[in-house]
Amino acid sequence: MITPRPVILDLDPGHDDAVNILLALASPELRVLGLTTVFGNVGLERTTRNALITRQIARSDVPVYAGADRPLVQGRISAEAVHGESGLDGPHLPIPTRGTEDEHAAAFIIRTVRAHPSEVTLVPTGPLTNVALAFRLAPDIIPMVREVVWMGGSTDTGNWTPAAEFNALADPHAAHVVFGSGVPLTMIGLNASHQAIAHPARVELFRELGTPTGAFVADLLAFFAEHHLERYGWDGGALHDPLTVAYLLRPDLFRVQPMHVQIDLSGGPSHGRTVADVWHVTGQAPTAQVMTRVDADGFFELLRDRIATYR
Ligand code: RIB
Ligand code: CA
Repeated sequence: MITPRPVILDLDPGHDDAVNILLALASPELRVLGLTTVFGNVGLERTTRNALITRQIARSDVPVYAGADRPLVQGRISAEAVHGESGLDGPHLPIPTRGTEDEHAAAFIIRTVRAHPSEVTLVPTGPLTNVALAFRLAPDIIPMVREVVWMGGSTDTGNWTPAAEFNALADPHAAHVVFGSGVPLTMIGLNASHQAIAHPARVELFRELGTPTGAFVADLLAFFAEHHLERYGWDGGALHDPLTVAYLLRPDLFRVQPMHVQIDLSGGPSHGRTVADVWHVTGQAPTAQVMTRVDADGFFELLRDRIATYR
């Protein structure tokens, strides 16, 4: 039996974050040490409530730690237009019966990485504020982190400005801290996640499971599709965040390439852009492994098989 890989999911639920929680908690290859929440798609109080709700639907006792409610430097943005007022509009949402731990998310990350040196993988799928705070408060943990696998950024266009992806734009200074830290980092940007569209036939994979969790996922994806139809004309939502956990489970479904990536902090029209040196024109050393290819059918098959394990 392979020893499960310890991970911390850092999230801003959010429809796709919630699916990522369910995928991770249904995967025995992983040991989810905790869920940490951050502002992002909606405010911290709601992203945290949504993490508690998703944990309850998964019937898990994984601890939840609330983190940063705003970016390091600039003002807060949010994405109710995409995720609805609750941040999880679409399915019926139960009232969470258990709350968060008292410890701040950044403190939990620091304590846990120190307790498990070189073992813990951080899986942020929102703004990188909690990770940046942990790295600034305790720089000693940076060489102790096994890897950071982040959904954010893009090697081409943005989705919140023409140049910037939402998670990067929501706290570009935090992204600058993490990308400049030297931590082993994998970036899963829009250039990859826009290959993983939850078309109606893929939504049906979950609906036809005939289980409460299958229905929850199908309802999330059906609502998530509405924004994508309006914005992009697509018949499904780009299932961004679960690509992180799927990459840990089945790296063979993906291609990643080393690239130098830096964050535009200029305040201009490209502010918050993850400037990826795709063709190595700068000659600068890579700062991240960047995902470029996704086997979408293989990804959705994996996701369906794991969601099917919930009864
Ligand atoms: O740009 C997509 C990302 O921003 C996803 O992680 C989504 O949940 C939002 O956080
Ligand atoms: Ca997210």
